Amino acid sequence: MAISPPRNRLWWNEPIERVEVGWIVVAFLWGLFMFVFMIAWHFIGGQNLSTETYRVTPAAYEEKVTAFAEKYQVGEEAGGVPVVRPPAGEDVYLLARLWEWWPVLELKKGQSYRIHLSSLDWQHGFSLQPVNINISIHPGYEQIITLTPTQAGDFGIACNEYCGIGHHLMTGRIRVVE
Ligand code: CUA
Repeated sequence: MAISPPRNRLWWNEPIERVEVGWIVVAFLWGLFMFVFMIAWHFIGGQNLSTETYRVTPAAYEEKVTAFAEKYQVGEEAGGVPVVRPPAGEDVYLLARLWEWWPVLELKKGQSYRIHLSSLDWQHGFSLQPVNINISIHPGYEQIITLTPTQAGDFGIACNEYCGIGHHLMTGRIRVVE
């Protein structure tokens, strides 16, 4: 921002400094490298999760999650969110909506679960903390990841796709018990 007009009116038309050209080249090459590695990271490292994905309507998904929560509910959090403890190896359902993750899951350490994820309204981001698992959650698509907790404790879920006025309040929880 210029408080007083610039002395040189064509201030934007000066030659670029060599060092700036250097940084532009570095940034461009790094961008290309990262672009290629989007594919490579499916094969090396544990960063990109490969998910199964199916079409589902939000209404049909909500029905599945509600039935799942009713079947395995063991308690209730403040605010009336059910705590659900599915048997080991079971299909587990979690939904995203404005602005919550529902329900709270209780899983057993060392057991594998198929975690189903979908949104009832618009795009949300499933970010499991403090482990670095990130998945974009879309309405109309049911994604399934296989998850085997290796540590007991409380894991937070934060929404990491901006989804409106309550985005920063959109948190959930997965509890892992021994
Ligand atoms: Cu949901 Cu941000």
